[in-house]
Parts: sequence; C-alpha cells; structure tokens
Amino acid sequence: MSSYHRKYIVAGNWKMNKNAVEAKQFIEELVVELGTQSDVGVVVCPPFTALESVARALEGSHYCAVGAQNMHPEPSGAYTGEVSAEMLRHLFVSYVILGHSERRAYFGETDDFIRQKVLVALENNLKPILCVGETLEQRDAGHMFDVVGHQLREGMRGVDASQLESFVLAYEPVWAIGTGRTATPEQAQEMHAFLRKQLAGQFSEDVAQKVRILYGGSAKPDNVEQLFRQEDVDGGLVGGASLEVRSFMKIIEVAHQLTEQEFATV
Ligand code: 13P
Repeated sequence: MSSYHRKYIVAGNWKMNKNAVEAKQFIEELVVELGTQSDVGVVVCPPFTALESVARALEGSHYCAVGAQNMHPEPSGAYTGEVSAEMLRHLFVSYVILGHSERRAYFGETDDFIRQKVLVALENNLKPILCVGETLEQRDAGHMFDVVGHQLREGMRGVDASQLESFVLAYEPVWAIGTGRTATPEQAQEMHAFLRKQLAGQFSEDVAQKVRILYGGSAKPDNVEQLFRQEDVDGGLVGGASLEVRSFMKIIEVAHQLTEQEFATV
C-alpha cells in the first residue's frame, strides 16, 4: 500500500451461491469473528434473494457492509427480472458490483450500459465496484492495457470527480477468475498503477489517490499477502474464497495485519 493511506477493502462476491438461510448463518458467524475490527472495510455481496436476510443479520453491526452484484439503470418499469438502485437502497445496500466480466461475457453487457448504471448508482448513493479486466487472448496479444483502459474510460465517462471519494475499482483478469490461476503480484501492481495513472489523467491526481483498486481472480488466504503488499493494491474482490467464513476471515486478517504494520512504520 502507498504512503497515501487508503483503507483496505475486502469484498466477497458470492455470485449465484447461498440461499437466504445459508446467507444468514454465514453472516451470524462472520459477525462474531469480525468482532469490532474496523480498520478493514468488509463487504459481502450475496444474490438479490439473500440481500434482505443479510441486511437483517447485520443490523446493528458497523463492521460489514452489504453489496449487490448488479442493478438496472432505470428507476422502475417493464424490465422483467431486473432490480433498481432504489430497491437496493431500500434494503440498506451500500455497494453494487457493476460490469463484472461474467455480466459482460454471459449477458452481453456493454461499456455504455455499464456507464449508465455507474451514473445511476452514484445518483442513488450506492458505491459502485466497477470491474475491469482482460481475457487471456487479449493479454497474450499484448492488448491488456488498451482493453482495460477503454473499459475504465468508458465506464466512468461523465462521472463527476466529487463523486469519486467512495468509488471502488476492481481489476479482475478474466483468465484468473475461478481458474485457480492468480495474477502475479507484479502483474497486478503493473495494471493497478496503470489504472491509477489513467484516473489521474481522467480526473485528478488527488482523486486517483483516493479511489480504492481491488484485485480479483482466485484471491485466496495463501496468495493475498503478496498482492496486498503492492503499492496500488487496496484489497480484494474475492469469489470462491469468500463462500466460507474461515477463508474469508483469513483474507480480512491479512489486510488487518498489513494495516497494523503500516501504521507501526509511520
Ligand atoms: P474467484 O475468486 O472465484 O476467482 O472469483 C473472482 C471474482 O470474480 C470476484 O468478483
């Protein structure tokens, strides 16, 4: 992490896993394990159907926030199967994952559509976790900076710099998602530094320093320390390893220890 202190965020993307009862059990255990730690921002992103039970199980706890995995940009109307920003706010959701590569690949989401959601999320005081990342073919062809740079520029066009304090970006190389193959700390740092530099150009250096950039893609308890130690890696967006309290807690613990070390050396 850099000399500019950015609090780590560890966010769990449960994808299409856990029903409302399983989600509640998970949160009850997590709350006990988390205790009163507050130096790491913890976010859980269950499926829509478990948002309410998660929010209820977290009532009174200030140490874990709730995120959704997607939303529709329209406020209401004939959009079968979709959920609006206002509906999420009503369930005390504070983050929303947007532009995940699975949404882009399986549901045809374009940069344009993702940008509409980003703008609407911000209008509704939802903190976007905007995902960007290249495929293996794009990396092998040496196009990863072009691809990811384009996703960032288009996904954030029209966003006001004053709205970026709580904005979160996630670099998720598609080839590392669910594959057990993780980006090396050097590959992650290289891309995160590139993203921060582009943010500085698109907005300002000050904004670029404040935006948290998370790494996602087979992040696990045994590989996150080296990743989180990188100057521009501000935490993780965790899939598989966020489904069990034990492994999720271990990742949070790594972020906690690195935060303590950082303060000890100030
Ligand atoms: P895995 O951690 O299972 O690779 O998933 C990463 C991810 O897509 C998080 O959004």
